[in-house]
Amino acid sequence: MLGFAPLQGFLGLDMSLNASISIRGKIRDLQQGQVPIHEEGLEALVEEGLTRANLSFHLTLSETLLDAEFIFLCVPTPQSEDGRADLSYVLQAACNVASFMRGGETLVVKSTVPLGAARLIIEAINRPDVDYVSNPEFLREGTALWDFFNPERLVVGSSNSKAAEAVADLYGRVGVPTIVTSTSSAELIKYASNSFLALKLSFVNEMASICEEADADIRDVAKGMGLDSRIGDKFLRPGPGWGGSCFPKDTKALVAISESVGAPSLIVRAAIESNTLVFDRIVERFSSQLGGLTGKRIAVWGIAFKANTDDTRESPALAVVSRIISAGGTVYAYDPVAKVPSEYPEVFQTSTAYDAVVDADGLIVLTEWPEFHLLSAKDALPLMKARNVFDVRGILNATWETQSDLILVGR
Ligand code: UDX
Repeated sequence: MLGFAPLQGFLGLDMSLNASISIRGKIRDLQQGQVPIHEEGLEALVEEGLTRANLSFHLTLSETLLDAEFIFLCVPTPQSEDGRADLSYVLQAACNVASFMRGGETLVVKSTVPLGAARLIIEAINRPDVDYVSNPEFLREGTALWDFFNPERLVVGSSNSKAAEAVADLYGRVGVPTIVTSTSSAELIKYASNSFLALKLSFVNEMASICEEADADIRDVAKGMGLDSRIGDKFLRPGPGWGGSCFPKDTKALVAISESVGAPSLIVRAAIESNTLVFDRIVERFSSQLGGLTGKRIAVWGIAFKANTDDTRESPALAVVSRIISAGGTVYAYDPVAKVPSEYPEVFQTSTAYDAVVDADGLIVLTEWPEFHLLSAKDALPLMKARNVFDVRGILNATWETQSDLILVGR
């Protein structure tokens, strides 16, 4: 049995009454098979687990941990003010769980925790009769189930290699490369992977800017680079900068880790700065195309930080939207799934993509939803006041390029 400790961990924290009620509500929804996030296939999987009775959700730790041999902690590690990962949720959840352990269990931490967290957690729980395994996850939002069932690697770090192997065995890992290592190496693998991917994207976004100035085509440049197997063709799609709940937080945390051990990472810091410049540059390009943004009505397609998710945390689309608003524009946004967060009350959310473009002075495409590829230039353009389209994700189909009076940039 896998103990579902994470949500329990939240309940044990010093939280507001409202937050606690909302978590109780979520648990009750999950007990009914209702999943509070948009993730392909998840609802069906939860339903299947509930029907087979090999998945259950509880409001008390004693029920959750009953007979558990392995207890997975998956609580968030948000970024604190100095860029470091905030370990308070993990520590609190680990201590709550420890007080219910019988002895002999394995505590598995899936949360992305900074270097040295294992030692802090082990000291905090003070349970020498319990094994500790660091087991970072590499799931991408939107394809999380696919990634879970088709892992490219498993990473398990522990001072007890038998406990680490036992955790890897839970995944039925036939043929999956497995790294059994120390807790510090396991902790760093996650940060190093995410930061490397982020800097690959910062690099390709810089190349996209160079291409625009040099009259070169980033699509051909990226394709040419990607065919070199040492570079690889993945993570070479330019866009409005990288975002989400992991890259921004993990890159900053790695910079903080690197500084704390006296080996500062200049490259990761540069990738973060380069990413902010992408947001600025996109809005400058768009603004110069429209002759300024003051008083302009702007259609935005895409609010989520990437396609196939309703997550808007650290969304590059919102970074761009807030700059458009600061420059005096009015935003009408459409997203197939994501909701504009309440911190953006000035943004009008429309229920169709075409509604967003009515009377627009310009359209900017910020998330690579596959359905945007199906949208027709012939239907959208006559609704607009001016035919300025900035396809930052390169997702619109080729028919847009054939529209004679359209100014199409960014691809
Ligand atoms: C990431 C890691 O990929 C995953 O292994 C880890 O577990 C969590 O963090 P996720 O945040 O879900 O996953 O998103 P990911 O698909 O990696 O995309 C991150 C950002 O990069 C998004 O803003 C996305 O739009 C952008 N991106 C990705 C590009 O701009 N171009 C690309 O070619 C790929």
